[in-house]
Amino acid sequence: MSFGFIKQHLDGQKNKHLYRQRSLIEQQNARFLQHDSKKYLNFSSNDYLGLNHHPEINKALALGAEKYGTCASASSLITGYNYAHQHLENVICQWLNKERCLLFNSGFSANFATLNAFSKPNVSLWLDKLSHASLIDGALSDKGRVRRFLHNNYQQLATLISSSELEDHLIVSEGVFSMDGDSADVEQLAIIAQQHQAMLYIDDAHSIGVTGKEGQGSSSANQNIDFVMATFGKALATSGALLACNNTTYDYLVNVARHYIYSTAMSPAIAWATAKSIEIAQQESWRREKIAHLSQLFTASLAPQILMLPSTSSIHAIIVGKEQKALSCAEELKQQGIWLTAIRPPTVPKDTSRLRVTITASHKESDIKHLADCINKVLLNNG
Ligand SMILES: Cc1ncc(COP(=O)(O)O)c(C=O)c1O
Repeated sequence: MSFGFIKQHLDGQKNKHLYRQRSLIEQQNARFLQHDSKKYLNFSSNDYLGLNHHPEINKALALGAEKYGTCASASSLITGYNYAHQHLENVICQWLNKERCLLFNSGFSANFATLNAFSKPNVSLWLDKLSHASLIDGALSDKGRVRRFLHNNYQQLATLISSSELEDHLIVSEGVFSMDGDSADVEQLAIIAQQHQAMLYIDDAHSIGVTGKEGQGSSSANQNIDFVMATFGKALATSGALLACNNTTYDYLVNVARHYIYSTAMSPAIAWATAKSIEIAQQESWRREKIAHLSQLFTASLAPQILMLPSTSSIHAIIVGKEQKALSCAEELKQQGIWLTAIRPPTVPKDTSRLRVTITASHKESDIKHLADCINKVLLNNG
């Protein structure tokens, strides 16, 4: 039968407990979600600051739609770049202290397009082993030489770069790692980049809004980052992404970044709403403080036998091991009113399937204590 690989692939995934399905979420905020008419405590949301449904952001969205439209109507290089986009770019440049900024429709396309633009014959792209799929796919999409260094192992990175015969180097890391919740040492990366005349690219999808005094993510720790990518669809609670850089690299990307050139610009209404969201994220530091407080409470409330990776972010990864066990633990938690999606390969390495807990500024202390009690029972019962 032609296209027989489709059924074969799906059957294989089912046999390996790796089959993926969507769940219809009827309603959600950063604390609760409703599925099949039942309400659950939500610990799988990336709405870290709890800004989704914020009335001021909704108001800005409506105003942006009224003044600038829901649709950009064209690519940014045709007639799609308008005042709402320029305003958001300016807000971002000031916030992150960068010369220029480009807006993309998603973090995936920002990462893919930018790394594709730098994947050239004379360029080595050095990616942390735990890099997001969009970084890997972009780096591999053209003729650059892609190398992976062990997760956060900068000694290995420095040794490898020193022995490379290629001229140009781009070092790529996430600020906060999406599936482990630990952080890169951006200062250390910037030093290595400087020593080797390399450029540094940081994906701040999970840091923006959450780390830094005003939520600037990695940029608050170090200013020597050549490219900062951050998505709007997580802590900033809208959608799309930013790529902040200097004047020259901005110019280069406007001329070569395929997802920028050949895609309708992001919705102006969303751009207007995102500027409001950034303003709130900058001003309301209590949201970051609450995440830190609840995260500490969660760590302290877990049984000592439970293996949780160290984290200074909203993300807390409890390693369970086999796919099937992660699925059954998630199902048992669901029976107790807790929504916690099991994360399995290929998103994470084999035998490190996990429960990825995200703590948001909307959770309450009682939610965290209840979560820890349930996880303690479920994991200790499952050996
Ligand atoms: C580290 C990282 N980078 C990039 C992305 C892609 O961002 P977006 O959802 O805006 O496409 C994600 C997840 O969504 C992510 O976790």
